[in-house]
Formats: sequence, C-alpha cells, structure tokens
Amino acid sequence: MYQRYDAVIVGAGGAGLMAALNLSAQARVAVVSKLYPVRSHTGAAQGGIGAALGNLEEDHWEWHMFDTVKGGDYLADQDAVEILCREAIETVYELEHWGLPFSRTPEGKIAQRPFGGHTRDYGKAPVRRSCYAADRTGHMILQTLYQQCIKNEVHFYDEFHLLDLLIENGRTAGVVAMSLATGELYTFHAKAVLFATGGCGRIYRVSSNALALTGDGMAVALRRGIPLEDMEFFQFHPTGIYKLGILLSEAARGEGGILRNKDGERFMERYAPSLLDLAPRDMVSRAIYRELEEGRGIGGKDYVHLDLRQLGREVLDTKLPDITDFVRTYMGIEPATELIPIQPTAHYAMGGIPTDVEGRVVVDEKNTPLPGFYAAGECACVSVHGANRLGTNSLVDILVFGRRGARHAAKFVRENDWAPLPAKADERAQQLVAERMGAQGDEHQGTIRDLLRDEMMAKASVFRDASRLALMREKLRETRARYSEIKLEDRGARYNTELLELIELGGMIDIAETLVEGALARQESRGAHSREDFPKRNDAQWLKHSLAYKTPEGIQLRYKPVTITKFEPKERKY
Ligand code: FUM
Repeated sequence: MYQRYDAVIVGAGGAGLMAALNLSAQARVAVVSKLYPVRSHTGAAQGGIGAALGNLEEDHWEWHMFDTVKGGDYLADQDAVEILCREAIETVYELEHWGLPFSRTPEGKIAQRPFGGHTRDYGKAPVRRSCYAADRTGHMILQTLYQQCIKNEVHFYDEFHLLDLLIENGRTAGVVAMSLATGELYTFHAKAVLFATGGCGRIYRVSSNALALTGDGMAVALRRGIPLEDMEFFQFHPTGIYKLGILLSEAARGEGGILRNKDGERFMERYAPSLLDLAPRDMVSRAIYRELEEGRGIGGKDYVHLDLRQLGREVLDTKLPDITDFVRTYMGIEPATELIPIQPTAHYAMGGIPTDVEGRVVVDEKNTPLPGFYAAGECACVSVHGANRLGTNSLVDILVFGRRGARHAAKFVRENDWAPLPAKADERAQQLVAERMGAQGDEHQGTIRDLLRDEMMAKASVFRDASRLALMREKLRETRARYSEIKLEDRGARYNTELLELIELGGMIDIAETLVEGALARQESRGAHSREDFPKRNDAQWLKHSLAYKTPEGIQLRYKPVTITKFEPKERKY
C-alpha cells in the first residue's frame, strides 16, 4: 500500500499529537500509531506539568531553569532548558484554552503543587509549580489534543507498527509500517517525518511503562545509522507499586506523602535534609536502594513504605483519586489507613534520538541535521533533562518540542518537494517481517524477553559497576544469539501479536546494548548513572554527551560537548 502526505508523525502520545495539531493548519498530516491514540503512554503521566505560573506563590522561569539544570546534574543543554522553561508557561495556557480541565484554586486559577527538585529562589525551598488535573494530567492532555486533531482533520493510522525509516540522497523520504489488523505493509511517502514514539522502559523487569514502550522509533533510527544520545542515563521513579511497577505519582509526596523504612523512620531526612521526600528522583531511588541494602526494607524484603495516611480522605479523593484506586485494586490496601509497599520502577529514558532545539534530528557531534527528519518527546534527546529528569518536565518537553518540531517541519514542507522514494522502498521491512515470520528455532521469545529484563534489572539499573556491566554485555550477546533461535508459532496475518513482540524484542536488545556500552564507558557518577566504582561526578573528563552508533563491529561511542549558558556546574546538594 502506498500513501503520500506532506508530513508523517509516528506516535500519537502528547508529542505526536501536539506536532500533528501544529502541522495540521498548514500541511496534510498523517499520524501512524501502534496504539489507539488516547491509549498512548502520555496518559500515564499523573502528577502534573511544570510551569512557573506563580499562581500560588512567587515563581519565575529562571528558577525553573536552574532546578532543571541542577536536577539533571549539569548535563542538560542550557539553551534548550531555557526554551523549555520559558515556553512551558504559554503552553499550559494554550492547553487551558483548548479546554483541558485543570484542577483549580478557590479563585479559579490553575492549581499548582510541589514536585521533586522544583524550588523557589534557586534552591531555597520547595515551590508549587506543577499544574495538574487531579492525578490524571497526562490523560487529560491526550484527550484535549486528540479532540483538537480530529477537529483539524488529521488522518490517523491506528494500530500500525513502525518498521523502517526511508532515507534517499541524504534526505528523509518517509516510513514503512505494518497494519496490525491485516499484516499489510504501508509505505508512507512524506516530505517530513517526525518520530514521537516514546520510551523504552520495558527493557527492565519492573517498569512504570506501558507494555508498548519498547523503544521502536529509537531502534529504527539506530539501525539507519543515526546515533542515540546519552542512553546510559535511565531514570528509576522511586514509587512504583511493589513488584508491579505501576506508578504512584510523586504528587503523592508533593501533597505530603512520606517514605518510611521498616522502623517507620522518615529516612530521606538522612539523604536530603532540605528537600526530604521531594529531592530529585535519582537521589530518592538511590536512598531506597541503600535502605534495602542495609537491611531496613520492610520485613527483610526489597521494598519500603509510602505513607499517605496523614493526607486524609478528602485530599486522596480529590487530588489523588487514580493512584489511591490503583492501590486498592492491585494491592487490596486502603491508603487512607494503611502503608503502601513501593519500590523504584524503571520510568524514563533521558537519552534518545539527538535533536536540536527545532526538533531536527542531528547525526553527529557537529549537530549536522538529517533534512526532513524530526523527533520529539521521550524517544528524542534535545537534551533538556541531562542526567536526570525532574518530575513534570516530561509533559513540558513533549509539548514544547512537539510544537517546535512541527513548526520547523511546516516550513520544511513548504520549501521542499517530496524526496524520491528509494527503489523497492519497503524491501528492508519486507525482509525483516519475512525473516521473523520464518523463525524456526527452538527458543521461546517470552523466555528471551524475561532474560533481558531480569538481567537489565540486576546489572544495569540504579547502581552499576564495571563488573556487573561487563556481565550484562555478555548477557546481551547470549540474548542476541538466542533471539536468532526463536520459534514463531503464529503465522497468521491478522493481529499477529507474537510477530509484533518478536520485532519489538529485536529493537529492545539493540537499545539495551547502547545503554550498557554507554554506561560501561562513562567512568563517573552523574544523575541517574551511578557507578559504585566511580562514585564522584567528573566534569573534567565526562561533562559531555555520548553518541552511540550501531556498526557491524558493535556499538561505537563518540562524544559532543554540553551547552552551558547561565549555570556553571556545581556540587549538587539538596
Ligand atoms: O510522578 C509522576 O506523577 C510522574 C511524573 C513525571 O514523570 O513527570
């Protein structure tokens, strides 16, 4: 099947929908998505979107910028962070004008609450910056944007899986995707392509990420010779439901929730005396791991407690209704009267497809753009989060850079014709599907997937060291070898989820490899990358972004400088 559009967006979460909406007034746009759009993972973002509106107390975008740079352990590009924090404000009002039902203050302003690492006056005390719709903020963003896209007649291709990015004469020419309903391959010929395919948290056993978050866009770009930036930085959110990983929003701590160990101690007093439970996520997750290591987990197990009892039923019901429901449903626990077992959960990739501040994908350390190719949201790395993202900043990122990417793409579409399609445009995708369909080995893909996730959890999660990472490198070799011995049972065309999962798994192995190689090479601790054998940050050698390329000889790493504008790197204390 052949389709032609001015622009094709892959992914229908917040970044994809925001991009589609901004392009739709000026161009013929298609959105190709593995899921039905409002089921996208943006819907799982609970606690809010950060913007210095100052509705409840004084706040400024410069304070937001400082917090973001410091929270990211000074690895973020500060020109991009400045854009993020400045444009956050107009973005929230734009959402309000499109009808997003924000929670309100008694005077009717958008309500705001504290979140980890967000402070007033350059670190003096927590500030209320997160604009929220109860604990369903991401869900409301999706609904609002999707309605606007429908109004603007964006074409949606729901339940299509991305297989390939087409590049001809150094320019993007489109994508190839497979309809999950029929198994047919579609070639989308486009002047501009924007990836908004989300993250890859499913490479870990315990994850807050939806099952669909298997890093598809990152893997397709990587296989087309585009590097992935800063993949060694992967965030664990401190409060996932024990064993299940389902997110319990940081908003719970923003509203006054407290973390406690087996002795009932508020242990964050020892790790972050000023911000306590609202320290940035990398610090809180490490603190939990330390408590567990030192035997202060609950009943000798690998979890601690989140205590919401002091919040009272009214706050739980009005401000945190979804997460309290999750706790009741999945754990049979009443949060108003009982303690909640939690453990850190794989949550967010700070790294991804490198872009500049216009959303253009760049392919080397000189930031050379690949014409016509854009990326935004978690699959991209612009880089505004540096080594550790602050809560609420991902929703800002998807919207601010989804819109900027779209605006640049709209200009590109106006000024350029379609690049010719490569001869036999879908040949590579066809080959991939045929190979996977013909898989006749004796391994089961569930076993290989479990192996990958368990090993990543054990050897490349919150704390790392050279020996565990080297073992993980070996495990990845084993995983790859066993992947080629998988047997596919279902050879049908319609909704062949076994085939889909097999293709996803191939990409997950590639992505895990970039993470492990980047982590092995980076001999320092910074943000979410915590090396026990190199416990200190080392700016002299490592204040730089990594770029991981997939080559026939394996992952090759190159580096590029960090953009520093307003804030020189300092020791990070909270
Ligand atoms: O904790 C949360 O509500 C998650 C927010 C985020 O990742 O930004």
